Amino acid sequence: MIIDLHNHILPGVDDGALSMEDAVEMAIQAEKCGIKKIVATPHYCRGCGASLAEIEEAYRELSSVLKNEQINVKLEKGMEIMATDELPELLKKGEVWTYPDSSYFLVEFDLDEDEAYFDGLLDRCKNNGFVPIIAHPERYRAVRHRPKLVETWHKKGYGIQVNRDSLLGHFGEASFTCADLFMKNGWVNCIASDAHSPQTRNSRWSEAFCQLPSRYGLRMLAYCLETAPEKILSNLPL
Ligand SMILES: [Fe+2]
Repeated sequence: MIIDLHNHILPGVDDGALSMEDAVEMAIQAEKCGIKKIVATPHYCRGCGASLAEIEEAYRELSSVLKNEQINVKLEKGMEIMATDELPELLKKGEVWTYPDSSYFLVEFDLDEDEAYFDGLLDRCKNNGFVPIIAHPERYRAVRHRPKLVETWHKKGYGIQVNRDSLLGHFGEASFTCADLFMKNGWVNCIASDAHSPQTRNSRWSEAFCQLPSRYGLRMLAYCLETAPEKILSNLPL
């Protein structure tokens, strides 16, 4: 089952889908490409942007619309948590959401974050029993400067999620070079859309399904799109 673990499909809660119509269109794009499950992962930063209650409500509304319109994509609830010092505490208190019924959580960093900050925070989360899935490391300045950071995280058992569009060159040369290197070294656990709208950064996978198999092989793609996402949602080791 192909699973998209990172998608800003929930309408009106972050810079993703602007309306219910956009969200439904994004789900249809995914369905047409054979995506069976989308985890809705709006940006979450406590005290700024939508509240947990507002995200919950948007999730419920969209789930019900997809059901009524018989769109065959299962929607799950998650979030893309902005890394802050208090993150381990928030995870422990359940004030941010992991993937459903899982100790894995999706975390993003400021694109210009200092290298020293990453490990300290990620290790504190891990020491509290929560396993980070690091969103699009190929986009971080520190990682572009020292791509081997990703190997270190991979060896620690942290999940590495690259963006589909980075592998297609849509985020520029530097993101492509890094994401391609991570794939070729076998450090990647999931490829996700990080879709934000039905237009640019969308839920369409046709270009990726044309280009990526010949580059990385079907076995690796199956791991990154099916096996590892299933493990994350089943709370199994990667
Ligand atoms: Fe995202």
